[in-house]
Amino acid sequence: MEQTIDINDSVTSSEMEKNRYFNAQRAPDYTIDQDWKSYSPEEHDRWDRLFLRMQEILPGRACSAFVKAMNELQLSASGIPDMEKLSDLLEPITGWRVVPVAGLVPDDVFFDHLANRRFPAGAFIRPEKEFDYLQEPDIFHDIFGHVPMLADPTFADFIQAYGKGGQAALERGQLHNLARIYWYTVEFGLIEEDGDLRIFGAGILSSPQESKFCLEDHSPNRIRFDRERVMRTNYIIDDFQKTYFVISDFETLLKDCYEDFTGVYEKLVGLTDLSPSDLIPEDHLIHRGTQKYFLDKQA
Ligand SMILES: [Fe+2]
Repeated sequence: MEQTIDINDSVTSSEMEKNRYFNAQRAPDYTIDQDWKSYSPEEHDRWDRLFLRMQEILPGRACSAFVKAMNELQLSASGIPDMEKLSDLLEPITGWRVVPVAGLVPDDVFFDHLANRRFPAGAFIRPEKEFDYLQEPDIFHDIFGHVPMLADPTFADFIQAYGKGGQAALERGQLHNLARIYWYTVEFGLIEEDGDLRIFGAGILSSPQESKFCLEDHSPNRIRFDRERVMRTNYIIDDFQKTYFVISDFETLLKDCYEDFTGVYEKLVGLTDLSPSDLIPEDHLIHRGTQKYFLDKQA
C-alpha cells in the first residue's frame, strides 16, 4: 500500500492506540459500534491532513468515477466521517452501506459482507507515528480509498460479484488465485480514460507516493488487465507494486468476473505462478518497467 518507511520507535503505543476498538463488543458479523463521538480532536485533525494531502495529488490522476463520488458522498476535510451518515448518502446511489469493524475480518465474513453490499471499514485512524505508512487498513484507507468507488453502479456490482466469487473460491481452496484480482484491481488497479491512465485502486488512492509512482515512474510494468494472467501473479504487500494492470472499463471488468470460475480454476491448477515483475509473451504491454526502484533497493 503506502510506501514503507522505517519506524524506529516502539510500536507498543501505536498498537494500543489502534487497538482501542479491539475491546469493542463485536456482533457475529464482526461489526462494532463506530462510537463516532469518541474520536479525539487530534484524530479528526489527522483525517483532515490526510485528506488535504491527497486532494493535492489526485487531480489528473484519480479516475473520473472517484472524483464524481467525492462530491456525491460529501467527503471533505471536516473530520472523520460518521459511517451511518455516509451510508445514508451511499445507499440511495448503489445500495451499499459501510459497516465499522475493529480491523481485518476473516475471509468468509468479509465475503459475506461484500455479497450483501456491506463494505467493512476499519474504525480506527492510523496513529500519528504511522501517518505515512500503515500496512493494516484504517478508516482513511477504507473510507477515502474504497468508498467513493462503491458509488459507481458498475464497480459496485463488481465488488458484490467478487464477494460471491470469494465464497466459491474458499470452498475450492483457490482463494489465492481470486485474491489477486482484488489486489490488482480494487487495491492497485489503473484504468484507461480518454487515452490516459487513471487510478481506481484504493491502495494507491490513499497513498500520495504511490499515486505518483504508479503513473509516472519508469520503474513498474504497466500491462493490460487479463483475468487469468492476473490470477497467476504474486504481489507485494508492503511496498509499491512491480506491475500495475490497466483495465479498459468497469463494464468489462464486471463481465470478466461475474461468470462461473470453475473452468478458470481448473486451468490455473496446471499453470505456474508468476513473480510480481515477470513478463510473458502474451502480455499487452503499455510500459515495460525498468524496475529501477527495486534494483536500487537491492544495491
Ligand atoms: Fe483496501
